[in-house]
Formats: sequence, C-alpha cells, structure tokens
Amino acid sequence: MLARNRFLLLVVVGVATLAIVSLSLQFLNLIPTTPTAEDRTFPALDGGGASAVGKSRKRVFPALHTLEPNPLSEAYGYCNTPNRSEQAWEGHSPADYKLLSVQVMIRHGDRYPLYSIPKTKRPAIDCTLSPSRSPSHPLLKAFIGHMGLGGRGTWEAPLSSVPRVPNHSACEMGELTQTGVVQHLRNGQLLRQAYRRHDLLPADWTPRQVWLETTSRSRTVQSGLALLYGFLPDFDWAELSVRHQWSTLFCGASCDCPARNRYLEEEQRRQYKLRVGDGELDRTYADMARTLGVATRQLRAANPVDSLLCHLCHGLAFPCVLGGGGARACLTTAQFAVIRRQQLDDERQRKEAGLYRKYAVLAMHPYLNRTAARMERAARGGAGAELFALSSAHDVTLAPLLSALGLTDASFPRFAARVVFELWRSPAPARKGKGERSKVKDGEPFVRVLYNGEDVTFHTAFCRESDRRPRQPLCPLRNFLSFVRRDMFSVLNATSYQEACYRR
Ligand SMILES: *[C@@H]1O[C@H](CO)[C@@H](O)[C@H](O)[C@H]1NC(C)=O
Ligand SMILES: *[C@@H]1O[C@H](CO)[C@@H](O)[C@H](O)[C@H]1NC(C)=O
Ligand SMILES: *[C@@H]1O[C@H](CO)[C@@H](O)[C@H](O)[C@H]1NC(C)=O
Ligand SMILES: *[C@@H]1O[C@H](CO)[C@@H](O)[C@H](O)[C@H]1NC(C)=O
Repeated sequence: MLARNRFLLLVVVGVATLAIVSLSLQFLNLIPTTPTAEDRTFPALDGGGASAVGKSRKRVFPALHTLEPNPLSEAYGYCNTPNRSEQAWEGHSPADYKLLSVQVMIRHGDRYPLYSIPKTKRPAIDCTLSPSRSPSHPLLKAFIGHMGLGGRGTWEAPLSSVPRVPNHSACEMGELTQTGVVQHLRNGQLLRQAYRRHDLLPADWTPRQVWLETTSRSRTVQSGLALLYGFLPDFDWAELSVRHQWSTLFCGASCDCPARNRYLEEEQRRQYKLRVGDGELDRTYADMARTLGVATRQLRAANPVDSLLCHLCHGLAFPCVLGGGGARACLTTAQFAVIRRQQLDDERQRKEAGLYRKYAVLAMHPYLNRTAARMERAARGGAGAELFALSSAHDVTLAPLLSALGLTDASFPRFAARVVFELWRSPAPARKGKGERSKVKDGEPFVRVLYNGEDVTFHTAFCRESDRRPRQPLCPLRNFLSFVRRDMFSVLNATSYQEACYRR
C-alpha cells in the first residue's frame, strides 16, 4: 500500500518535465536506420517562422502548483543527487517465493551537458574520480582500481576502446561525472542488499549467468560497470563478457520497423507545433538571447536547458556575461522555469496524443521480447539461463520502455533511473491427502516490475490493479508473455510486430 501511494505521489509530482529536455536533444539520434534523421538540425526544428498553431492552449496546473510550489524542486528530482538514503522495494515477495532472475535497464548517471550555451563559460566540473571529493562512495576507490584491470574482461567491439572510468579534469561533452558513477555504485549496492538473501547467483557465476550490455557511449559503459561493481564488488573479470548494442533502442537484429519511424516523425511534428505556438517560450528565448548577445535561433539551437540543468544539479550559479557597458547579466531561474513549463505542456500533450505510445510499443518490442524469452529460460531452469541481466541505456531507451509497458504516469527517467523486472516462483502447492505422494508440481512463475525502487507491477498494461485476482500477490508470467507476444500491439490494431511494422 505504502509503495503504491508513494508511486502515485511520485507520478503527480514528477510529471516528467525534464522529459523533453533530453528527448529533444536525442530524438534525432533515435533512429540510426533512417538517414534523414541525422540530417535534421535544431534550427530547422526550432526556429521555424510563423506559428500556425492554436493560441488558446490552457495553462492551468492546479495540482502541480499546490504540490510543488517551487518549480526547481522537480529539476532536483531529475538530478537525483546521491545525498540521501533511498527506499527500494526490489527483492520483496511473499514468503517462500523463489527468485529466479532479475533484469535491469538503467539510464546512465549524471553527465556533462551535450551542448554549450554560446558566449558563456562551460560549467567547471572535474570528471576525474577522487574518493576524497563529494559526492563519494565507500566503494569508489576499489572501483577505480578494479576498472584498471578491465583488460581481462571480454569486450565486444567497439567497447574495448571505450575508457572504463571518466578521466578528464575538465569534463568532455556528455562525459559521466563522479556523481554519475556514485549514483550507479549506489544502485548496485542497493540491489546487492535487496537480493542478498535470495541466492540469485552462485558464487562461481558464469558469463552466461551475468549479462551486461551497453551502447558504445562512455557514459553508458561506465554506468553499467559502476552498477555491476556495486552489485558484485570485485567481480571476476575473466567471467565477464560485455555486449554491445548499436541502437539506443536495444533492438538487436530486429530494428527494422518502418512504421516506428513514421510514428516518431508524426510525434516530432506534434512537438514542433506545440513549441512554435508558445508565445511565452518565444519571449523567454528572445530575452535570453538578448542577454547573451546572440541570435535567438542560435540560442535555441544550443538547447540551453540542458546546460542549465547541469548547473543546477552541480550547485553552480547560472552563467553570466559581461555586457557592452561592462555590466554583468545572467540567465535566470525564471527563464529556466518557463522552458520547463513548456516541457510539462509537451509531456502532457504527448500522452494525450497517443502517438508516442505507438512509437514506444514498436521501439521496445524487441527488448521486451528478449526479456520475455530470458524469463522463460529462467523459469525452465537449467544452466543456460541468464540470472542477472543489465542493460545500460539512455533516456531515449527508458522513456519508450515505460510508455510501452503502459506506465503512462511514470516520471521521465532521471539520471541513473532504473527499471527492474523480477521473476519469481511461488512455492509448490501443499500436498493433499496424507500418505500418498502427490505429483511434485512446481509453483507458478510470476513477474514484478519496479521503477526507481517503486513496485509498479499493477500499473502496467498487462497487470492492471482492476484485473487483479483476489489473493494474487504478484503478476503471472503468462500475462507478461501474452502482452509481449500479442496484446501490446492492440494499440496499433495489430497482433504482431511484423504486422504492425510493415502494414501501411
Ligand atoms: C540533496 O541535494 C539537493 C540538491 O542539491 C538538495 O536540494 C537537498 O536538500 C539535499 N538533501 C540532503 C538530505 O542533503
Ligand atoms: C587518468 O589519466 C591520467 C593522466 O592521463 C593517468 O595518469 C591516470 O592513470 C588515468 N587514470 C585512470 C584511472 O585511468
Ligand atoms: C521474439 O523472440 C522469439 C524467441 O523467443 C524469436 O523467435 C522472435 O524472432 C523474436 N521476435 C522479434 C520481433 O524480436
Ligand atoms: C483494425 O484492423 C481491422 C482488420 O485489419 C480493420 O477491419 C479495422 O478497420 C481496423 N481498425 C482501425 C481502427 O484501424
């Protein structure tokens, strides 16, 4: 109950403002299979002249205003500053249930901005690791040492050339910071504590039993390693094989899906229309550009909110410039708040429009299909099953994952966000009658889904609270399997991935 109420609160409070921050930043990289996607630039998206779009949009957020009077506190939630202990519900089950497997997808931890604001100094952040600098972690020193031995692991190309720890005294664009490393050491340690008493892994686990996959960005590689180290301190490199996912959708060999790209393009058009119709946003960008002495188009193209977020997360004052008369002028939190307000509008409209959900179902089917197949293997038991699988990913991976699962109220994935799939087996039914040996029948397999430590199983599309059977504490695996293999395509009026992807 408590968990559920807390989730609902989180949902209301966290309406994913920051969402589109990075969504807009990375949208263009989403579909590497589409050549045109890379050609678009932000000026083309953002600077478009006349607005043809409705001026009558409402801007009333009573619930948010009463719950979150300070618009910045939401941004702090997104920062996920590792300075407080966290409640985590992973590993909780009815008595006597056996944990069979755990699959985790994470967003990388805190990173340096991907863009810089024209005419301003880049935020001064040190991306080397130092246990004596805050935020730190008891495992940080040992982690750095262990990463130095990474050559002993098996790395799928092109991962072997990616640095295993951040190591620039002035961060590079998009580099994981020490905060990001600490966030994932904490995630790993948290899972370690959650699963300690469930004997998930044998002490001599094999490369098949522990699965780590990541995109080739250094921030995802390093985040995955940090979580793994927190989970399995001093793991044996010789047993570790790190797999590469070339697509941010983790779609492996099943990435071709023309319809997915069409939904994404429609979604981007919706997003664009909303943005160009927003007078307050236009004025704010114009003010900021005037302050900096640059063209508004140039400023918008630089996605200033990404860099401002980084300032905020690291407790740095917003950037200032010296104006013509030698007067100092700075970007303000009020301007930042306007951009975030627009992102909230966008997030809300995005959910109502439903295009993103359709995109997300197609985007995440291949990953969910693999997740389901692993669960089946683990439920059957045997040596070939993955017991712990970790996918180290991006916001453009987790956001569609949450949407595809039907977690429409979940907040946008903050830094170091985590989605966890647990597979459990109920105890074998008690033997009936005495004396006679009833057939030894295994219990049933069940799934749990958690988002940032909250149990969201009964908020998913395949296990709605309203469909829950009495006294059924967890969600049957078969619900998840039929969702992944057929039911998830119902929002597309289809019954399979092939059909949904290729039908015109
Ligand atoms: C943690 O850091 C955030 C952001 O800097 C701050 O708002 C919050 O008060 C801090 N919490 C604690 C318990 O120190
Ligand atoms: C970081 O870089 C410095 C200078 O290039 C090097 O001496 C040091 O060994 C590196 N540290 C790690 C952990 O890679
Ligand atoms: C889904 O997984 C099954 C194996 O469980 C595989 O045969 C099938 O090709 C997969 N489909 C997609 C679209 O990834
Ligand atoms: C769904 O598909 C069926 C059969 O392909 C078709 O008859 C029906 O019109 C479709 N409905 C929608 C809303 O597209």
